[in-house]
Amino acid sequence: MAFWFNSDRERGRIFSEAFARDLPDLPFITDLTQVDPDDVRYVLTWTLPPDLDRFKNLEIVFSIGAGVDQFRIETLPTEVKLVRMVEDGIVRMMQEYVTLAVLSLHRNLKAYLAQQSEGRWQALPARQAADRRTGVLGLGMLGQAVIERLTPFGFPLSGWSRSPRQIDGVRCHYGAESLPSFLGETDILVCLLPLTGETRGILDARLFAALSPGASLVHVGRGAQLDHDALIDALDRHQLSGAVIDVTEPEPLPPEHPFWRHPKIMLTPHIASVTQPDTAARAVIENVKRHRAGLDPIGLVDRSRGY
Ligand code: NDP
Ligand code: OXD
Repeated sequence: MAFWFNSDRERGRIFSEAFARDLPDLPFITDLTQVDPDDVRYVLTWTLPPDLDRFKNLEIVFSIGAGVDQFRIETLPTEVKLVRMVEDGIVRMMQEYVTLAVLSLHRNLKAYLAQQSEGRWQALPARQAADRRTGVLGLGMLGQAVIERLTPFGFPLSGWSRSPRQIDGVRCHYGAESLPSFLGETDILVCLLPLTGETRGILDARLFAALSPGASLVHVGRGAQLDHDALIDALDRHQLSGAVIDVTEPEPLPPEHPFWRHPKIMLTPHIASVTQPDTAARAVIENVKRHRAGLDPIGLVDRSRGY
């Protein structure tokens, strides 16, 4: 029996120390030449290796990230479980990033940076947090964590999910029919949806038109959820007032892409949140123990939903 770590060397070092300490009976392998493929029961990876079928006794594929859209689940044998990363480091970083983005939009940071570059000292109209309705698409691990972190600022908070959710102090909507009313009462929209057949291209002209006029967007889900031309058009027509974009399709964006220089867009290179090896190793070890005890791992992907 062995655990194959298919990721970078630095994280591998931290994982290997944690496995040696907390799961000493499970060989931890970074070099596949050291192991008989029949012994590999677990793999931690960002994408599926092309020759996965040589691991005849594979039980779990662990994603190194929270998203699992990069795996084609249908190509995994049905008896193999796919588990997304659920760990404190990812959650904390996403809370930081979305708070930074929402506050930047709320307090006109991009406009003040532009004024600074022009040597202009001028106050712009300021809106109070109680007047800035902030809505989160996706009320899962990250959506809920972000809402918790935004709560003390006093923004009226709402959220949208596939199934009904109840969160204290948050107006919760669910299902496709409720999307327009959710959007109509949103001034800052945060996208934290997984990429699935249903969410691909969801941030499009129709969605932007349904938002409250002058609303802004924080996009931290997946690049393929966003229609780039529709966003530029909505910003240029003043239908939207600003956007913070962390994920794009493709990544990286080509140098001539308009997002790089658009005056109303703040762009970051998919860094909103990054798996932290110490906490991630603890989470994966815990999941191996759960699996061995006959329990479902935390973060088990539901094949029918795709997340
Ligand atoms: P979860 O699986 O915990 O939550 C997903 C949420 O989205 C759930 O609330 C789910 O609804 C909702 N949802 C899914 N499909 C639909 C739909 N069709 N209609 C309405 N709601 C839907 O995911 P996480 O919170 O852990 O992560 C979300 C995504 O964030 C990841 O998949 C990844 O793409 C992205 N991410 C981005 C990072 C970055 O650095 N930019 C870092 C980490 C993640 P329900 O509650 O009903 O199931
Ligand atoms: C993730 C990511 O899914 O970094 O974890 O995007």
